[in-house]
Amino acid sequence: MIETLALVGATGAVGQIVRDLLERRNFPLQRIKFLASARSAGKQITFRGESHPVETLCPEAFEGVDLAIGSTPDDVAEQFAPWAVERGAVVVDESGFWRMHDHVPLVVPEINPEAARNHQGIISSPNCSTTQMVVAMKPLHDAARIRRVVVSTYQATSGAGVAGEQDLELGSRAALAGEPYDYQAFAHPIAFNLIPQIGSHKQAGYTSEEMKMVWETQKIFGDPSIRVCPTCVRVPVTNCHSESIMVETDRKVSVAEATQLFRDFPGITVIDDLANGEYPMPLSSNENDDVFIGRIREDLSSDHGLTFWCVSDNLRKGAATNAVQIAELLCRQTT
Ligand SMILES: NC(=O)c1ccc[n+]([C@@H]2O[C@H](COP(=O)([O-])OP(=O)(O)OC[C@H]3O[C@@H](n4cnc5c(N)ncnc54)[C@H](OP(=O)(O)O)[C@@H]3O)[C@@H](O)[C@H]2O)c1
Repeated sequence: MIETLALVGATGAVGQIVRDLLERRNFPLQRIKFLASARSAGKQITFRGESHPVETLCPEAFEGVDLAIGSTPDDVAEQFAPWAVERGAVVVDESGFWRMHDHVPLVVPEINPEAARNHQGIISSPNCSTTQMVVAMKPLHDAARIRRVVVSTYQATSGAGVAGEQDLELGSRAALAGEPYDYQAFAHPIAFNLIPQIGSHKQAGYTSEEMKMVWETQKIFGDPSIRVCPTCVRVPVTNCHSESIMVETDRKVSVAEATQLFRDFPGITVIDDLANGEYPMPLSSNENDDVFIGRIREDLSSDHGLTFWCVSDNLRKGAATNAVQIAELLCRQTT
């Protein structure tokens, strides 16, 4: 049982869902506090039937806090996590800031739960596009060792937070009305468009979002020899990221074997009936914790390649669900 849990970034796209999951999963906590920027101070949030004021994030806010779940921008996470750890709290952080630090475990509970034991106060949850891909990779990797991945993402606007969600809706309305719209979260119009850049230029023509998929995958599997070639694209979909994934394994994995491996893995749902038009899509995956897989087929261009389509709610398994699962794991590991 956690005595006091602080939800940092409680007013954001991810934070709102963390709150909902803590309630619905009956997370074992006695007291909760909601933290955000000064812009939100005083707003009321209802949790388990009681109204709580949002408090401004500051070092003293972590006095008496045992566990903090953070869903804030990177620079805010850089600042607040040490405040919390210095006061004895464990931080489960969803931002990108701490993920690649050596002393910070990067955890997906279905894949590397044991890594959480080695934390020194901070545990990171991966990037949303990484999480659904590594969950899909895990059963294939265990069975036949994945050596290479080629992935293209189709990422929803909610991946850019509340501002991203609003940009799609208001930008679409403005475009249909023939009016101008000043996009807040995107450098180009997202209504009726695709943007083949997520994040900033990082290296060798790859963006920061793409390099996250490379480095985080290698860290989670503890295998820097896995080669990942990503292309990340923002699409005009409100929620749920989709990915076209091709993996090359040490030995050939048939479609039938892969389908069974996916079906047997916790947290994966297979929907794969092309003849009847059944496959995962963003609208049908919305507000669901699972990673959905379909269009499973042999790669026609390599001997040991398998390709498939993967959809997951980026605000759920890609963020809030994974963080709450890490928090639940911590509770189990300490009892
Ligand atoms: N969206 C996704 O699909 C997704 C998936 C995985 C990981 N993540 C990561 O999760 C984090 C949150 O993402 P989001 O999509 O929820 O963003 P968001 O909707 O923009 O929410 C950001 C939250 O951080 C708070 N915040 C911003 N600046 C702050 C400050 N200076 N001090 C205190 N609180 C501050 C905001 O509070 P106010 O409302 O008061 O401004 C809000 O609660 C990001 O690091 C993101 O990369 C997001």
